[in-house]
Amino acid sequence: MGQKTTVCTAIPYVNSVPHIGNILTDLCGDITARYRRMRGDDVLFQVGTDENGLKIKEAAEQLGRDPHEFVGEIADRFRSIFDATKISYDVFVRTTSPEHVRAAQELFRVLEANGFVYKDNYEGWYDVSTETFFREEDLVDGKSPDGNPVRWVSEENFFFRLSAFQDRLLTHFDENPDFIQPANRRNEVLSFIRQGLRDVCITRKNPGWGIPVPDREDLVIYVWFDAVINYITATGWPDAPDWAERWPAAVQWVGKDILTRFHATLWPAMLMGAGLPVFKTVAAHGWVLLQGDKMSKSRGNVVRPMELANELSERAGISVDIAVDALRHYLSATMSMETDSGYSDEDFEIRFNADLANDLGNALNRTLSMAHKFVGGLVPAAAIEADAAEAISRAKESYAAAMAEYQIPRASEAAFGLVRFLNKYIDTRAPWALAKKEDPDLANVLASMLHVLRATEGLVRPFIPTAADEIARQLGVSPQLDWDAIGQESSLPAGTQLESPTPIFPRLDRTKKTMETPPKEVARPKPAPEPAAEITIEDFVKVQLRVARIVEAEPVEGADKLYKLQIMIGDEKRQIVSGIRKAYAVEDLIGRQIVVVYNLKSAKLRGVDSQGMLLAATDAEGNAVLLQPDRETPEGAFVK
Ligand code: MSP
Repeated sequence: MGQKTTVCTAIPYVNSVPHIGNILTDLCGDITARYRRMRGDDVLFQVGTDENGLKIKEAAEQLGRDPHEFVGEIADRFRSIFDATKISYDVFVRTTSPEHVRAAQELFRVLEANGFVYKDNYEGWYDVSTETFFREEDLVDGKSPDGNPVRWVSEENFFFRLSAFQDRLLTHFDENPDFIQPANRRNEVLSFIRQGLRDVCITRKNPGWGIPVPDREDLVIYVWFDAVINYITATGWPDAPDWAERWPAAVQWVGKDILTRFHATLWPAMLMGAGLPVFKTVAAHGWVLLQGDKMSKSRGNVVRPMELANELSERAGISVDIAVDALRHYLSATMSMETDSGYSDEDFEIRFNADLANDLGNALNRTLSMAHKFVGGLVPAAAIEADAAEAISRAKESYAAAMAEYQIPRASEAAFGLVRFLNKYIDTRAPWALAKKEDPDLANVLASMLHVLRATEGLVRPFIPTAADEIARQLGVSPQLDWDAIGQESSLPAGTQLESPTPIFPRLDRTKKTMETPPKEVARPKPAPEPAAEITIEDFVKVQLRVARIVEAEPVEGADKLYKLQIMIGDEKRQIVSGIRKAYAVEDLIGRQIVVVYNLKSAKLRGVDSQGMLLAATDAEGNAVLLQPDRETPEGAFVK
């Protein structure tokens, strides 16, 4: 087994079911864990639930529920959502579990024994919704700086001597410049610490919920103080004999809101005080906003991951696992480490069509169809062309560099960049033309296409694991689980029998609304002015109709109704000009299958060559409505 690597993620509160923002933290951890496993590491990937907060007890009571039962149910829901979204965790820590209670109480004892915990009176404000203490001068108009209501607390409590760690923390940041990722968050943390750290109150009066302070049943440990300890509970601290092999963690994934105070200040100081090693990096991602607002379970403006995946699965006619991959791709490709990102249904559909249905779908479909057509459906025994080999190693390099800095969206970009390279490579090397000329390069081009596809399968795997399995199946090989093998010719041996291409992500028809939208009244088209003259079957068969796929679309300059389309009919590329610009946007066209008149004499429209004509009906408003096969059909198929 390789190097031992621990990957940790912030644990969500269990006052409600998770939204796509909470899932983002776990997804970042999952992508990291999957990638590190491919690199050969022996990974321990922790997730869990934060269950000891006062707001959780209050949420249960408001519902008239027993808090233990309530958190048990919600923790189970989180677990099943992590499972359904393919979060490949090794340990799930519940902070109400006996192991965690033991770890939290023990760390409290160690810090007390080391002189970093003392007793004092606490008077101040407490924000239950974020479980944070505030001083009078921190409040804004009588509320917390986030605008939450606060309540007055006056109790005898224990304090953690955080002030003693100010210099040690600053030295640690200096000596470990990569400790906080991304770099732009570092200054935020430094200025918070340089303003001066105050000791923190780490207990509360026991409300009948929480982890009791050792030998003081009347007090419980402050929820944040207990929650961060879950990361070492996951390693088996303090009792497992081998816990030290699993600690320190390589990375702690958190959202930006809980970086400064908790994960870059309090938690490392607690570890320093207990004489335990500090984790190597804390990586913070931005928020996912919904209509410009932070998604929040307490505010109720949330998008739930499995609702989204189930709806997509029904609408696109794909398995829930593939729909989950689409969500994982969306979040990882559009998230931002440095700033926030926004979710919208429209954006989700656009990314689905552009990246998955079109780019990845075309690369898979064209590569396999052409391999069947030109080299008998077997991987040819031919060398990979230099530019294809280079594209693979460049993609691997930038992917690895991105992952070393925990830059998830950049790694996604490197993987999908290779997909786009493959489509361009097919267009430029035009295997159909090589076949026509019986050019000996054909075998090398096909081998290159197949190897780039195989490398793509490895690179997209941490993001879309189910789709990656399906690509491997269609390539006739087992899943690519070894990073070093990516790009090696041995990863796709010559002579491997390829399966027929089957689309994984069928294009979403963006003109079709979601299922909840009632169907619009459709106006009847005007009757044709005159009955058409009859034709015989012999007349009809003269017209050759075939299925094609649009691979490029661009407006014809100076003609506001026309598009110039590049289409693939089997392995043949053609250009047609079509008057459908008023009814379709470019992104609605790329990747779409259509029906064309194949044997129409070429013509020039507005000076642009058109080698065929597509079929479209006209709706009541006179807009073009494209005809397309009812389901994905091999390109070039005859329509009779
Ligand atoms: N329980 C604490 C964390 C304790 S870790 C020892 C907590 N829970 S949370 O449920 O509010 O958040 C869980 C994770 O989701 C955190 O990483 C948080 O930053 C992240 N997100 C919560 N809302 C988010 C968005 N709208 N967008 C992105 N991530 C955000 O904090």
